[in-house]
Amino acid sequence: MDAHYAAMFSLTLIHLLLHISALDFLSPGSSLSVEHSSDVLYSPDGSFTCGFYHISPNSSIFSVWFSHSVEKTVVWSANLDRPVYTWGSKLKLNIDGNMVLQDYSGQIVWTNNVSSSNVQEARLLESGNLIVKGQGDIILWQSFASPSDTLLPNQIINGTIKLVSSTSSNRLVVPGHYSFHFDDQHLLTLFDDEKDVSFIYWPNPFINIWAKQRIPFNTTMTGVLDSLGHFLGSDNASFMAADWGPEITRRLTLDYDGNLRLYSLNKNGTWLVTWMAFTQLCFVRGLCGINGVCMYTPKPACACAPGHEIIDPSDWSKGCKPKFRITCDGMRFLKLPTTEFLGYDQGTYKQVSLSDCKNICMSDCSCKGFSYWRGKGDCYPKSSLVGGVTVQTLPGSTYLKLPEALQVPESSIPSSQPSGHQYGLNCSAENQYFIAKFSDISSGQSESRFLYFYGFLSAIFLVEVIFVVLGCWFILRMEGRQLTGVRPAEAGYDMITNHFRRYTYNELHRATRKFKDELGRGASGVVYKGILKDKREVAVKKLAGIEQCEEEFQHELSVISKIYHMNLVRVWGFCSDGSHRMLVSEYVENGSLDKILFRSEESQILLGWKDRFKVALGVAKGLAYLHHECLEWVIHCDVKPENILLDENLEPKITDFGLAKLLNRGGNNKNVSRIHGTRGYIAPEWVSSLPITAKVDVYSFGVVLLELLKGSRVSEWAKIEDEEDEVEKVLQRAVRMLAVNVKLQEGREQSWIIDFIDCRLNGRFSYLQARTMIKLAISCIEEDRGKRPTMENVAQMLLSVDEESIVA
Ligand SMILES: *[C@@H]1O[C@H](CO)[C@@H](O)[C@H](O)[C@H]1NC(C)=O
Ligand SMILES: *[C@@H]1O[C@H](CO)[C@@H](O)[C@H](O)[C@H]1NC(C)=O
Ligand SMILES: *[C@@H]1O[C@H](CO)[C@@H](O)[C@H](O)[C@H]1NC(C)=O
Ligand SMILES: *[C@@H]1O[C@H](CO)[C@@H](O)[C@H](O)[C@H]1NC(C)=O
Ligand SMILES: *[C@@H]1O[C@H](CO)[C@@H](O)[C@H](O)[C@H]1NC(C)=O
Ligand SMILES: *[C@@H]1O[C@H](CO)[C@@H](O)[C@H](O)[C@H]1NC(C)=O
Ligand SMILES: *[C@@H]1O[C@H](CO)[C@@H](O)[C@H](O)[C@H]1NC(C)=O
Repeated sequence: MDAHYAAMFSLTLIHLLLHISALDFLSPGSSLSVEHSSDVLYSPDGSFTCGFYHISPNSSIFSVWFSHSVEKTVVWSANLDRPVYTWGSKLKLNIDGNMVLQDYSGQIVWTNNVSSSNVQEARLLESGNLIVKGQGDIILWQSFASPSDTLLPNQIINGTIKLVSSTSSNRLVVPGHYSFHFDDQHLLTLFDDEKDVSFIYWPNPFINIWAKQRIPFNTTMTGVLDSLGHFLGSDNASFMAADWGPEITRRLTLDYDGNLRLYSLNKNGTWLVTWMAFTQLCFVRGLCGINGVCMYTPKPACACAPGHEIIDPSDWSKGCKPKFRITCDGMRFLKLPTTEFLGYDQGTYKQVSLSDCKNICMSDCSCKGFSYWRGKGDCYPKSSLVGGVTVQTLPGSTYLKLPEALQVPESSIPSSQPSGHQYGLNCSAENQYFIAKFSDISSGQSESRFLYFYGFLSAIFLVEVIFVVLGCWFILRMEGRQLTGVRPAEAGYDMITNHFRRYTYNELHRATRKFKDELGRGASGVVYKGILKDKREVAVKKLAGIEQCEEEFQHELSVISKIYHMNLVRVWGFCSDGSHRMLVSEYVENGSLDKILFRSEESQILLGWKDRFKVALGVAKGLAYLHHECLEWVIHCDVKPENILLDENLEPKITDFGLAKLLNRGGNNKNVSRIHGTRGYIAPEWVSSLPITAKVDVYSFGVVLLELLKGSRVSEWAKIEDEEDEVEKVLQRAVRMLAVNVKLQEGREQSWIIDFIDCRLNGRFSYLQARTMIKLAISCIEEDRGKRPTMENVAQMLLSVDEESIVA
C-alpha cells in the first residue's frame, strides 16, 4: 500500500517536474498547445516568452515576445502571414528536431525543416533566440536566422538575413512592403518593395558613398547591435542609441511606416525611441503612395493631390486616383508650392522659363505635371506622381495638370505647418482632401521623447539631416532621368539611381563576339564593341594596368556608377573576373571627335560651326558636372578630342572619366602619380610639383576649344611652323598672339578671326560665338591656374552666346 502510494507520489512528482521543466525547454516529442496559456517557454531570466500570441479572438501566431513590456511586443514569429486558429492548433517538436506548427485541422502551417538524429531540446535563450539544440550544444535551427521585423542585441544580420516590416501599427498583420537587408553593393539598406521594383530610400540614394560614410563591397556582410546600444555593420553603417549604456533592454525594429527605429524599454514597460533612420518621416519612400503627398501638420500626414481621391483609406501606400481623365486638350496647371514628387522625370530641362516648362508638359499628353525651380530655371516634367512631399524648405514647386473644368478648392492644396497649431483640416468638407494621420505610429509618445534625446546628439548629425533633406532634391535632379523606366535587375530589385551592375567575363566574351570588333585603343586599354543580351549596344573596355585590389577597384567603380549626365558616357557596369578588369559603357555612334575633326580630305563629315559650338558647350557642361555638380568631385585629367565621343546627333559625350583619377575634395593628392595626361593638353602644373586641381581640365578644355576653332591639332601647328619647338611653346605663342589681337581689335573689323578659323568652314561661322570661344580659350590656357575660369563659368559664358542664328 505504502509502496503503491510512494510510486504514485513519485509519478506525480515526475509529472509535475516534467510540467514545470516544460516551461524551460521543449523536449522531442512534446508540444505546446494554443489553448493553455501555461504552454509557453521562458528565457532563463524571464525577459522573453515564446508561445502562441493571440492577434484576435480567433487567430494566433507562434511568437517570441518581451515578457516585461506593457503590451506584448513580438520580436519574432513563425507564421506572420498565416495565423492559426485559437483552438486546436499546436506546435510540436518531433523527435527528428523538426518543429511543426499545425492548425486545428492538422494542416502544417510552418516547419523549421530540421532533420537530425541527435536532437536534445528546443529552448529559448536569454538573448531571445529560440533554438533547437542537438547533443553537444550544436544549434540545429535558430529563430535569429529568420527574423521578422526586429533585430535584438547581439543578433547578427548578414547577407542572407532580411527584416520585413509588417503592415499595421499593431505590427501583426501581413508582411509590409519595406525591408532592411544588404544590397548588391553590400550596403545595409532600406528598400521600398513596390510591385515589380524595389527602391532604396536609406541611406539617401542621392548622395555619394562618402557622404553616406559607408564602405561598399566588403564581402563580410555582417552587422550587429551590441549590448550597449551601438550598431555597426561591415559597411561602416553605424548608429548609437541616445541612451547608450549597459543593462537596457533594446530592440531595432523596421516599423510599418518604413522607419527603422531603435527602442529602449522603460522601467514601466513602455518603449522609448532612442534612434531612428528618418527624423523627417515624409522622406520615407512610398508612404503616401501614388498621387499622395506627405506633409507635416505638424505631425506627418498623407493627403491626396488636389483633384484626386483616396483608393483605400486603410492603406495609404495604395495612394490616390484622379477624379478626372487626363486628356490632351483643355488642361491647365495648378501650382502646389514647395512640393516635390520623387522621380519619374520624363526629362531634364535647364534654365528654361516657367512658360516654356508649361509648354513642354502641355504638349506631352502623358505628362502628369512638372516640378519647376524658379531661381535655376530647372524643369522636370513627370510621367507619374510618386513620393510626393511638401516641406517649406523645398526650393521647387510642382504644377499639377488638371482639366480646366475641374474646380478644386484652395484648401485642398497641401501645405506643411512646420510648428504651431495643427493643420486646419475640415473633415466634414467633401472628400476633396482626404487626410490620414500617422498618429498611430508605433509609440507616438516616444517620438517627442526622442527629439529630447536627439538634442544631445552631435551637431554634425543635425547638419547631415538638413543636408539630406535639402541636398537630396538637388542631387535627385542630376539623376532624375534614370528614374523613368526602371525595371527589375538580376538581383531582384532595381535601385533608383543605379542601373550599374557586374558582368561576368563570359557574358562580355559573348557580347563582344570574342573581342572581335575593336573600336579603339588608348593608354587605359582597348575598347571593343559588343551587344548585350538585352540588345543594348555597348563599348567594352579592357582595362590595362589596373593594379588596385578588388575592393579598391570596386570602390572607384561605385563612384563612376553614380555619375550621370547627358554629356558624359554612361557606364553600365563592370567585370572583375579573375585578372580581367573591364568597363561596360554605352556605345556612342559617331566615334571620337579627333576622327571627325582632324581627318582632312577623305573625311565624309565636315563638322559644321553649329556642331562645333555644340561640342564645346556640351563638353563644358559635362566637365562642369564632373567638377561642381556631382558630389564625387571628379577631375578628368585627360581631356582631349580622343576622349570626346559624338552620338548620332553629334552631341558630345566625354568618356574615360573618373577611372583611377579621383581626387578628394580636401586636396588629398595621393593618387596623382598614377594619372597621365596627354602631351599638348596638359597644364603646366603637371610638370611642376603643384597639386592637381580641376583647373587642369580647364586648361585642356582651352586647347580643345582652339582645336575646334582651327580644325587641326595643336601639335600640328608646331610642324606647320617648321620649328623644333615644343608644343607647349608654340601653343603659348599662339595664345599670346590671339590675346593681342582680341585686345587690339576690340570693336573693329575682325579679319584675323577669319584667318584663324578652320578654312574648311568657308567663313560660315558666328563671329560672336567664335570671339567668345577664343576669349575663353585664352583665359583657360592661362599659365597661372588661379586666373583660369571654372568649368561652370565657361559653360555659362558659352550658354550666353548660344543663340540659334548663325551667320551664313
Ligand atoms: C470566432 O469563432 C467562433 C466559432 O467559430 C465564431 O462564432 C466567432 O464569430 C468568431 N469570432 C470572430 C471575431 O471571428
Ligand atoms: C522549410 O522548407 C519549405 C519548403 O522548402 C520552405 O518554404 C520554408 O521556408 C522552410 N522553412 C524554413 C524555416 O526555412
Ligand atoms: C547568417 O546568419 C545565420 C545565423 O545567424 C546563419 O545560419 C547563416 O548561415 C548566415 N549566412 C551567411 C551567409 O553567413
Ligand atoms: C565610418 O563611419 C564613421 C562614423 O559613422 C565615420 O566617421 C567614418 O568616416 C566612416 N568611414 C568611412 C570610410 O566612410
Ligand atoms: C569588412 O568588415 C569586417 C567586419 O566588420 C572588418 O573586420 C573588415 O576590416 C572590413 N574590411 C574592409 C576592407 O573594410
Ligand atoms: C513610463 O516611464 C517613462 C520614464 O521612464 C515616462 O516618461 C512615461 O511617461 C511612463 N509611462 C507611463 C505610461 O507611465
Ligand atoms: C467645414 O466644411 C463644411 C462644408 O464644406 C462647412 O459647412 C463648415 O463650415 C466647415 N468648417 C470649418 C471649421 O471650416
